[in-house]
Amino acid sequence: MRISVIGCGYLGAVHAAGMASLGHDVVGIDVDAAKVERLKAGHAPFYEPGFEDLLREQLASGRLRFSTDPSAAHGALVHFVAVGTPQRDESGAADLTAVRAAVAALAPRLRPGDLVVGKSTVPVGTARELLDRLRVVAPGASLAWNPEFLREGFAVGDTLTPDRLVLGVRGGTPEETAIGQRDAALLDEVYATILATGTPRLVMDLETAELVKTAANAFLATKISFINAMSELCEATGADVTRLADAIGHDARIGRRFLGAGLGFGGGCLPKDIRAFRARAEDLGVGEALGFLGEVDAINLRRRTHVVDLAEQLTGGLVGRRVAVLGLAFKPSSDDVRDSPALAVVAELTARGAIVRGYDPEAGANALRVLPELDLAATAFDAARDAEVVIVATEWAEFRDLDPAASGLRELVANPSVIDARNCLDRDAWTAAGWNVVALGRGSHRAVTRSGTGVPAA
Ligand code: UDX
Repeated sequence: MRISVIGCGYLGAVHAAGMASLGHDVVGIDVDAAKVERLKAGHAPFYEPGFEDLLREQLASGRLRFSTDPSAAHGALVHFVAVGTPQRDESGAADLTAVRAAVAALAPRLRPGDLVVGKSTVPVGTARELLDRLRVVAPGASLAWNPEFLREGFAVGDTLTPDRLVLGVRGGTPEETAIGQRDAALLDEVYATILATGTPRLVMDLETAELVKTAANAFLATKISFINAMSELCEATGADVTRLADAIGHDARIGRRFLGAGLGFGGGCLPKDIRAFRARAEDLGVGEALGFLGEVDAINLRRRTHVVDLAEQLTGGLVGRRVAVLGLAFKPSSDDVRDSPALAVVAELTARGAIVRGYDPEAGANALRVLPELDLAATAFDAARDAEVVIVATEWAEFRDLDPAASGLRELVANPSVIDARNCLDRDAWTAAGWNVVALGRGSHRAVTRSGTGVPAA
């Protein structure tokens, strides 16, 4: 089948290559000429394990091409819209400019029977608005909503072997229902290979499909903030949040995943999506229903300040003190620094007068774009040299696997103090190697808070 994918960012580029690998004839279209050139040459514009291999393989097969020209969409039967919906302003609402522009650019190229399929994360009601527009500018074309749940770092796997396929289609009147059924059948054809493996397929109305995505992200963010709130309780009482998470996680109704306490969530999705979801609920007159997401956001942001407070307590004042921050990406296996908790910590440490050196295995260049003043080290050891406190802010395997005894890191630092802001280090091994380890939500810094000595409370 001939397919176009409008928007070749994270979501669109991986989707385009993924669809080509299913045997479709795909064109990816983006307004950013530099990005399109990179993709054409088989270079991923972002770090994503497995993506570059897939991209090259599909370019070589002849089934995948990229263009900046919107007319390249002409002739395709299914048109995926995968452009960004960033946070608009302080209100938190989503900026739909790119989505509306993509549909407007597509409209004159659509033929009757063509299907536009939204993949972008949008406020509920957007699909209906776009469909109403299409009825005027491209009668005979239809629209469906097919949200995407891919995680950075697992984008290829999540695209080709998703947990579920959600298809939002038209319905209501018999005529609309018939169109919706036809649209769902077309999407079944697109995803035939994936469906053949038994992937659950859920067909619903457009509004529910839009909500599925925002609800899923809101739930995930809530789960993380819940465990981080428990962290605060643990720190006040000397309890251990990792043992707590293990124990409650054994209840299948709760589950252990996404109960990783630490520096909290960041990235291009969860923070902006919960804010946009709240803003949309306010517009709809049901703001109270999502009031709790304000608390979820606040708990999350408190983690960042808390880590800086801990560094301040450990150093006895940050002005002129050397701090190493290991990990700058918002999560491991990614070079993405959008709303990165690690970068927020760097910025706050710097604002309080610390001399910060940062290191990340992949995200260094992107971090410099956001914080041009950042002193970027080439290795973790470089960053740690003469540091009075080391903060592990992203749980890259490279840091988790550091042998605290054999690595020689202790000899490099001015003071062997480490804040494990992701609960990823083997605390006993680090303590045995002579480090003062402060792990978030694991009791130990109750003493730091009270006496500043770092000695665990009795
Ligand atoms: C997320 C959703 O998982 C995905 O389904 C959606 O399509 C897009 O948003 P992503 O932003 O790639 O994906 O990252 P994810 O792996 O979900 O992590 C989000 C943030 O939460 C990261 O900053 C991560 O460090 C943090 N996190 C995750 C925790 O703090 N604790 C956890 O237990 C899990």
